[in-house]
Amino acid sequence: MHILHVVGARPNFMKVAPVMDALANRGGVRQTLVHTGQHYDANMSEVFFEQLGIPVPDVNLDVGSGSHAVQTAQIMIRSEEVLLRQKPDLVLVYGDVNSTVASALVCAKLQIPVGHVEAGLRSFDRTMPEEINRLLTDQVVDLLFTPSEDGDANLIREGVSADKIFLVGNVMIDTLARLIGKARDRWPVVADELGLPLGATTSQDYVLVTLHRPSNVDDQASLKRIILALEGISERAQVVFPLHPRTRERIGEMGAASGRDALCLLDPISYLDFVALQSRATAVITDSGGVQEETTYLGVPCLTVRENTERPITVSLGTNTLVGQDMELLTSEVNRALDGEGKRGGIPPLWDGLSAGRIADVIIGGAAPSRGTAASPPVGTQ
Ligand code: UD1
Repeated sequence: MHILHVVGARPNFMKVAPVMDALANRGGVRQTLVHTGQHYDANMSEVFFEQLGIPVPDVNLDVGSGSHAVQTAQIMIRSEEVLLRQKPDLVLVYGDVNSTVASALVCAKLQIPVGHVEAGLRSFDRTMPEEINRLLTDQVVDLLFTPSEDGDANLIREGVSADKIFLVGNVMIDTLARLIGKARDRWPVVADELGLPLGATTSQDYVLVTLHRPSNVDDQASLKRIILALEGISERAQVVFPLHPRTRERIGEMGAASGRDALCLLDPISYLDFVALQSRATAVITDSGGVQEETTYLGVPCLTVRENTERPITVSLGTNTLVGQDMELLTSEVNRALDGEGKRGGIPPLWDGLSAGRIADVIIGGAAPSRGTAASPPVGTQ
């Protein structure tokens, strides 16, 4: 069986790694890895491949940046050529980025069976580009691997047939569970290498921040409010803030009027360094999806600067609190964590490090559907 994986952006890489591993362990599977090139900087892509042990991509589509339409269209045009040439039996797409929806749509049109890893998540906020990507992807794929029960319920409500849905748990947690020990071992060098004013052995409080959503950083007024709140927090604890390229650009545009000098601003950091920082943080402030999940697994209080989340289980069961744009609430929640009273939580069912194995069982066990014989190319899993 020939399985082709499509990845493109940073959050995809932690998801593909365990699935490729699990499939390789089953034997009898040929795997091809396609990188769309949506993320192309070494510190947004290459370093993740190295640390996660992902093979060098067989194909790089080199699409780079662009408007949503340009980026999505380029991925479609370039991935179609590759899919026609490679003729895989099954394609797997990951998460909710432009690479996910673009390649899923191409597969559907070519009648190549396609599975979505991390299906069913919904924020119910269609102003988020990722929500559009999630909705469209789940309508055209054949296999839907969900991380939690809310995903199954969303899909059933949207009319997806139950026999295509598989509750497998969270593959991102597979990677975290595998590498948390290694990340923690790096701690003494992480603080030093990153030039953080934190002791290598002391348990000094610090707050880790990651923000890149257009709704937070593209709007100057909103970004300014957030930076001012972070500056206030930095009077009590060190604020460590690795910057996504988009955020760095926007902060640069703000000029000298912001309080950013009080913050410890860094370039994007590697997976292991970021996990090491998360695991020791007193609190994490984020607008990322994956970080809401990782902090829940690690038991670290997470304050999410969004009005909604597609990962509600991190709020109902985990350590996540939605603070929206309410910077007073953000500050008071961080203060609670600094006082040792941050939100505690549990780990959701099936977030046990074994999710990719369940996906491999479904695929190898023969649940992968065939759409029948397409005119071109000949495809099918049987
Ligand atoms: C994308 C995903 C988002 C995910 C995020 C993780 C979509 C719609 N969004 O958002 O869901 O949470 O990745 O990082 O797919 N850039 C670089 N170097 C890079 C990549 C990007 O400098 O390697 C800059 C470019 O200026 C680019 C901007 O970052 O225009 C945004 O990149 P893009 O891939 O369009 O979206 P993200 O904001 O990264």
